[in-house]
Amino acid sequence: MTIKEDIQSRRTFAIISHPDAGKTTITEKMLYFGGAIRDAGTVKGKKTGKFATSDWMEIEKQRGISVTSSVMQFDFNDCRVNILDTPGHQDFSEDTYRTLMAVDSAVMVVDAAKGIETQTLKLFKVCRMRGIPIFTFINKLDRQGKEPLELMEELEEVLGIQSYAMNWPIGMGKEFMGIYDRYNKRIEQFRTDEEARFLPIDEEGELAIAHPMKETSYYTQAMDDIMLLNEAGNEFSEEKIRRGELTPVFFGSALTNFGVQTFLETYLQFAPMPQPRLTQEETIVDPVDTPEFSGFIFKIQANMNPAHRDRIAFVRIVSGEFERGMNMTLARTGKSFKVTQSTQFLADDRETVDKAVAGDIIGLYDTGTYQIGDTVVGGKKTFKFEALPQFTPEIFMKVTAKNVMKSKHFHKGILQLVQEGAIQYYKTLHTEEVILGAVGQLQFEVFEHRMKNEYNVEVRMEPMGNKIARWIENEEDVKESMTSARSMLVRDRYDQYVFLFENEFAMRWFSDKNEHIKLYSLL
Ligand code: G4P
Repeated sequence: MTIKEDIQSRRTFAIISHPDAGKTTITEKMLYFGGAIRDAGTVKGKKTGKFATSDWMEIEKQRGISVTSSVMQFDFNDCRVNILDTPGHQDFSEDTYRTLMAVDSAVMVVDAAKGIETQTLKLFKVCRMRGIPIFTFINKLDRQGKEPLELMEELEEVLGIQSYAMNWPIGMGKEFMGIYDRYNKRIEQFRTDEEARFLPIDEEGELAIAHPMKETSYYTQAMDDIMLLNEAGNEFSEEKIRRGELTPVFFGSALTNFGVQTFLETYLQFAPMPQPRLTQEETIVDPVDTPEFSGFIFKIQANMNPAHRDRIAFVRIVSGEFERGMNMTLARTGKSFKVTQSTQFLADDRETVDKAVAGDIIGLYDTGTYQIGDTVVGGKKTFKFEALPQFTPEIFMKVTAKNVMKSKHFHKGILQLVQEGAIQYYKTLHTEEVILGAVGQLQFEVFEHRMKNEYNVEVRMEPMGNKIARWIENEEDVKESMTSARSMLVRDRYDQYVFLFENEFAMRWFSDKNEHIKLYSLL
């Protein structure tokens, strides 16, 4: 295979969903089809610790987060698939958002009974901002859920994206009979043996053979719905999918392994190969046309091995090919180095990687050299990829060192963790008290743990709760007297003013009184 064909075979995506929608289950089935795991129970075991082969931070062990599951790779239908994990629950952090910067498309898993939930919405917005294709899998059809038409409407209304049903459920819950596959023009039966799995449909779109299903009200209902979709629904448009304006929707049941394979096959047909990236110099780096290796760091994970205090920088390769032992230049410092230690991530273990191409993710051992957003290049000419966006934090803590004598270590630790992208830094005016901001609670826990273990500083954390952070377009018009308990004025790490509003009401109140102050949020 030429390197060009190698790159074209890559599909790199993340699964976005609200906790419990079935992301782990669907991932596990995909890995199973791809032969990456032998037993479709392996990933699931992560909750019980079976899968926790890594022994990094204790906090990680306690929570059962597995490093090895951050990136999973497998081959399926001539594609090499890279799935990047986006943790849910309290594990939700800026990392989760940044991971979405490293993928070319996203799969959104929705629980049919719950519809669009908060976390899905947040992650969806980040994908939308990037304009990447989003594919929807509506899960748990083996249980009674919302009406399919209602779910389609919800997608359009809550998310503001057009949808196209690739298939349609016939019945649901106890009466779930299968899916009418509009795209592949067949009916796929639920709970049946392999030979009888697919039923043909005729020119009119009706079930082509005599079958008991045809006599049921569920079949009639599905046919009515499909007629409605054909007449009044959106048209299928590959172009719109590519631009992230229309999401193809698939129904299924991950737990019973129904519809996942059909989904994966169809998804891989439409999912984009590695996409070009813009540089800060406003040039475009095309994965295939640019022979030199290049990539950017979207995640740094610390203490994978406590004995060595090592960190791993996750690199999304944008162009060319990586080979172990090659020379790389870190664009920010201009320093070159030979990469001898690199890692690739597989379903059940980390492996040393010798070769990887655009679209793949590799891990570089880091002793404090890298920062989030760094560009690494293989050629002589260096450049920088567009900066990764900063995300508006939602929860805040005031933080101090328990022992004032440790102040120097305290500040050093914070500086490094902030540079690493683990947490966001703010300070109060004049008194310069430290306030940390995060999008997820876990970030604070990781911060506290790492300050103690890596910098030997115990910290006192004082919750400030949720705040709405807003930056200011016309900073020169801000007066420090505008600060109040409900609209606290602070500075960020770049010394820019930021208002931390207690709630929406406080923000509106402030804006009404200070119409000339133009507020904006980060992503
Ligand atoms: P997550 O990673 O998105 O958080 O979800 P996960 O796959 O862990 O699934 C959450 C729960 O939903 C699990 O049940 C899982 O078995 C169940 N589930 C996933 N897909 C389906 C489906 O298609 N149908 C049905 N009925 N259930 C599904 P649990 O009881 O929380 O976990 P477990 O005890 O099964 O491990």
